Amino acid sequence: MDAISPDVVTVQVTGERLTPDAIVKHFRAQREGASVEQITLWPDAERSAQVRLAPPPGERRGETVYINPYSGELLGKIRGEQFFRTVRSLHRWLLIPSEEGGINIGRQITGFSAFALVFFALSGLYLRWPRRALNWRNWFRIDFSLKGRNFYWALHSVIGTWVILMYLLMALTGLTWSYSWFKNGASMVLTGEPVQERRGFGPGGPGGGQGAGGMNREGRAMGGREGGERRGGEGRGGEGRPGSEGGMHQEHVAPVAVDAAWASFVVKAANNYKFASVTIPRSEKDPVMINYVTPGATNDRQRSMISFNALSGELISDQPYKPLEPLGKRIMQGIYELHTGEWFGTPGLIINMTASLLMPLFTITGLLLYLDRRKKKRNSKTAAAGVSNTHTDADYWVVYASQTGTAEQLAWNTATILQSGGIKASVKNIAALDKATLESAKKILFVVSTFGEGEAPDSARAFARKFLKSSLPLNQLQYGILGLGDKRYSDYCAFAAQVEQWLLASGASALFARIDVDNAHEQSIHQWQQQVAGLSGVTSVTAWAAPEYEDWRLQKRELLNAGSVGAGVYRVSLQPPKPGNTHWQAGDILEIKPHNNSELPHREYSIASLPTDGVVDLVVRQAFNEKGELGMGSGWLTALAEVGSEVQARIRANPSFHAPQTNCPMILIGAGTGIAGLRAHLHERYLKDQQQNWLVFGERQRIHDRLFARELDAWKTSGFLTEFDEVYSRDGEGYVQDLLRNKQQQLGEWLDRGAVIYVCGSLSMGAGVQQVLIDILGDAELQQLIDTQRYRRDIY
Ligand SMILES: Cc1cc2nc3c(=O)[nH]c(=O)nc-3n(C[C@H](O)[C@H](O)[C@H](O)COP(=O)(O)OP(=O)(O)OC[C@H]3O[C@@H](n4cnc5c(N)ncnc54)[C@H](O)[C@@H]3O)c2cc1C
Ligand SMILES: Cc1cc2nc3c(=O)[nH]c(=O)nc-3n(C[C@H](O)[C@H](O)[C@H](O)COP(=O)(O)O)c2cc1C
Repeated sequence: MDAISPDVVTVQVTGERLTPDAIVKHFRAQREGASVEQITLWPDAERSAQVRLAPPPGERRGETVYINPYSGELLGKIRGEQFFRTVRSLHRWLLIPSEEGGINIGRQITGFSAFALVFFALSGLYLRWPRRALNWRNWFRIDFSLKGRNFYWALHSVIGTWVILMYLLMALTGLTWSYSWFKNGASMVLTGEPVQERRGFGPGGPGGGQGAGGMNREGRAMGGREGGERRGGEGRGGEGRPGSEGGMHQEHVAPVAVDAAWASFVVKAANNYKFASVTIPRSEKDPVMINYVTPGATNDRQRSMISFNALSGELISDQPYKPLEPLGKRIMQGIYELHTGEWFGTPGLIINMTASLLMPLFTITGLLLYLDRRKKKRNSKTAAAGVSNTHTDADYWVVYASQTGTAEQLAWNTATILQSGGIKASVKNIAALDKATLESAKKILFVVSTFGEGEAPDSARAFARKFLKSSLPLNQLQYGILGLGDKRYSDYCAFAAQVEQWLLASGASALFARIDVDNAHEQSIHQWQQQVAGLSGVTSVTAWAAPEYEDWRLQKRELLNAGSVGAGVYRVSLQPPKPGNTHWQAGDILEIKPHNNSELPHREYSIASLPTDGVVDLVVRQAFNEKGELGMGSGWLTALAEVGSEVQARIRANPSFHAPQTNCPMILIGAGTGIAGLRAHLHERYLKDQQQNWLVFGERQRIHDRLFARELDAWKTSGFLTEFDEVYSRDGEGYVQDLLRNKQQQLGEWLDRGAVIYVCGSLSMGAGVQQVLIDILGDAELQQLIDTQRYRRDIY
């Protein structure tokens, strides 16, 4: 405010300065009847003098007016005073006036908000506590390469860490003005005594004492009032001035010996003060009190106090500022300074201001995080399609056996349609299907895919081994089967057929003929929908459609293996249709429509990135048909679709290749394009700060085929990749499975520590790895790993 009122706070030096008596006289000559309460003077010759008047009846604070200390001319008030007063009232009680004798709602709201701030600060600290708390980087560094939710989280948590102390300090000190019980409690904790009501300058006087000019006066008003004013409501006076209680509206008598006292002070202080406030005594018997701030004070509330006899100018008492001891008392005394940051001098004020300015950032990032989480919850609910899955006495069980998520999705959808017809239906993973359920169930709809070479998906292996070898008495059971497969494999829908044979051999009867689906062909799926709808009496199955393909922008295409003897491998980056709002996780798959042609079958690609990367990265190897033409899907992505054009695609969740629930060591095994699914997992683990990662990667030639080499090398150097083994077959190093065989001891150690094994890449690589695992661990132990989801595969 001083800065915007230079004409008020500074004057030209013109001769001798007026004494305090003369200033009061000049003032009263120009403002008749005004009652001067205090004059503040600065040693600086160009600084005008400040006069504070006694408050008018019913008001708590008198006017502050400036006067030329040479000519006695009134200079008026500084600008912005009213504005800052309003801001302060907004800050303290939201400008809501107090009802006479009632509760101030505004103050209740600010008090509650202060509690909320403490709650949010502490709960935030708990939630963001890094796993490796001793590494300072985890606390203070923002990774600007993050995007979307993870970036909001980083902003929220890291900046929150920077400012948490300030917020706690602001909130906890602020609460002492909101609730007297809180203040008393704090006082008991800090000093062992309840709050001492202070009036005027007690022993701790200077700190809570009289104000000087400008903003500093606001401080005084707050600091000097203590609890008494709080309880009495606004407008009760109590400015902490000696003898002012009850005499607030009394006329101030023209001073008789203020000049003498002032002269004594000036000699004594020898210009060694920043400013000094002279209280004009109301009677000749009152002492003249001068409080002043020394140049060495860290804030303007560290007041020294000196008083003189009003008549003789004789020194009565001299109390230089000294901090209260012990610390608890000093804190109780300096609550205002702690609240504003002034306690720590100018740096404290700056830090406090910055922290306050950052507050909206927390509101916004916090809100975004909250909305994101809510949406995710909603999405997962929609994934389960509102299916209630709690029936133990279900009319229909919908049982799925899925490797890459399609069968699982269709199972949930099947249950939805049954439930929409009022049928009690529950979904079950085939791995959890037991003998009792089989023998008691009346109706089961199986949705099963085929994997490997005509085999059961991994999660159904145990079921196949346990039940399919011999029949059960299932005469009571009626079944339906949806078989998912792909005609390009020789054993088309073989597992579905195997399940059906076993059901028939066990005496169960078909509700309708088995439906096989080639490459998730929509027409066959629709046929299944119609059958299920018929069972439940539902006529419309529109809610049941597979997710629509959307337009993704082909942002970038990069050849990753120039010079390779193998077919080209491209990193294909696709921008989601709704950036920031398209969700997937490590392990998921992107289905694309080659040539954007709805007639053509889709192709699937393991996603190699995370939403935080902003794009879906695919690692696509060019395939060729017998005529040497580029494959339908890989050709479209790596050569035909133009960069910048739209590519129709959709995400498919692949739960069986999602990350494990716990933070356990992970062995990631892959060859060639298999790096895609592994890379997404590594990104996810990096973000989650999950250590203990062993990557085994195989390709043809080290010199041409080290996919994502720079990224992987950096992770190895930083230690994020605990182990990074590479094998290049054309360099004579063998295949990933050979490496595993050579490292069986290490493999055993990792598994003993609870490691999970994730395999991604071609079917032949997957089969080779599986054989080695069986050789090393034995069939039973591998099955155990499958059953406990510690061995997961994304192979194709
Ligand atoms: C879950 C999953 C994840 C996948 N992830 C990736 C990935 O990350 N990167 C990647 O490059 N590929 C991946 N694929 C393979 C991909 O989906 C395509 O199969 C591949 O790109 C070849 O398709 P295309 O349309 O280019 O070739 P097509 O036009 O289908 O055919 C090219 C030639 O290959 C033969 N052929 C193609 N597929 C098969 C098959 N399955 N069995 C037998 N012969 C076949 C065809 O008969 C033809 O001769 C994944 C597959 C699945 C199921
Ligand atoms: C590695 C692999 C092997 C497969 N083997 C067969 C097979 O032998 N016979 C078949 O009909 N389908 C086979 N399929 C195709 C799948 O059954 C088909 O893609 C199905 O839609 C997958 O369903 P899911 O996502 O629920 O696992 C295979 C798919 C993959 C990825």
